[in-house]
Amino acid sequence: MKVNGTPYRSIWYEAGEVRIIDQRWLPHDFRIATLKTRDDFATAIRDMWVRGAPLIGATAAYGVAEDMARDPSDANLDETWQVLNATRPTAINLKWALDRCRAYLKPLAPSDRAEAALRLAHEIADEDVEINRRIGVNGLDIIKEIAARKPAGEPVRLLTHCNAGWLATVDWGTATSPMYHAAEAGIPIHVWVDETRPRNQGALTAWELGSHGISHAYVTDNAGGHLMQHGLVDMVIVGTDRTTATGDVCNKIGTYLKALAAHDNGVPFYVALPSPTIDWTVRDGVKEIPIEDRPEREVTHIQGTAADGSISEVRVTPEGSPGGNPAFDVTPARLVTGLITELGVTEASAEGLAAMFPDKAA
Ligand code: MRU
Repeated sequence: MKVNGTPYRSIWYEAGEVRIIDQRWLPHDFRIATLKTRDDFATAIRDMWVRGAPLIGATAAYGVAEDMARDPSDANLDETWQVLNATRPTAINLKWALDRCRAYLKPLAPSDRAEAALRLAHEIADEDVEINRRIGVNGLDIIKEIAARKPAGEPVRLLTHCNAGWLATVDWGTATSPMYHAAEAGIPIHVWVDETRPRNQGALTAWELGSHGISHAYVTDNAGGHLMQHGLVDMVIVGTDRTTATGDVCNKIGTYLKALAAHDNGVPFYVALPSPTIDWTVRDGVKEIPIEDRPEREVTHIQGTAADGSISEVRVTPEGSPGGNPAFDVTPARLVTGLITELGVTEASAEGLAAMFPDKAA
């Protein structure tokens, strides 16, 4: 997508180096970082310079490629898998990408691995872009249906949580891709953007939508239920970090509460789901998906930007009050209206997913 008129992806390869948009500084400052060593890649994923399930998968693939150029041995391939996979536990795209890299590289002679790994990283990145574009096309059909039921010219009002935008993927985003496609098709939309405490990924979504001229408002995480009760939300659309073979959806903390409120108010609740985010080995999301526990300081303190552009941090809790910071939650399949995949929209159920992806469902 474009930043000040220039097209960007969230990760790319330029002059023999891997570049990322360093998301720690957004939305206040647009900075690019170069990742070179395995430690650079691990730090960038763990400390959320890059974030969002599809993007951390693509970043890990580039991390393997860069490390194979240093040491293409079997032992190092396994060690790199371990180091990168340990950076964040919940989004399955990380393991999906690392497994794919290792399975592809292991049978090759070590001397061929660096070049092959880089080719594969490019392939994974390009595939992500195409998957998300197709999710946008499929999600657009749903937005069109809702628009057709509204008085002409009235915007379709969507609510989204976290940032499942182009910054969370290589390009397009998952939950935002239908929004960008709707805007391109001339369908008026308005997006309620949840702030998404404690990391405020909603500010990234607001930055993205604002940069593309899409009407939106940044709301507190607790506003969704009220907005739905008053008929101000036509559709919820969120991303996912891991979806089970039975359609349970793990996503950013707070997603479950939005799904409950949507259910209570008869608001359709859709999940934009790229197929690499499906964990076919898991059936019960609540019991089986590991939920990342992040530092309590993210909750006990908030960050802001001063007039001179510097970022500072203040404590919001009393000294001595501990914080708790589970980063994701699981929305049971029964609360999900539909899964918008690259192949089409399906029911959030074992049957729905198996019918959509017959080769992958065991
Ligand atoms: O902790 P984050 O910022 O990596 O969490 C991101 C999310 O929860 C997104 O909604 C999810 O990865 C889907 S991204 C297309």
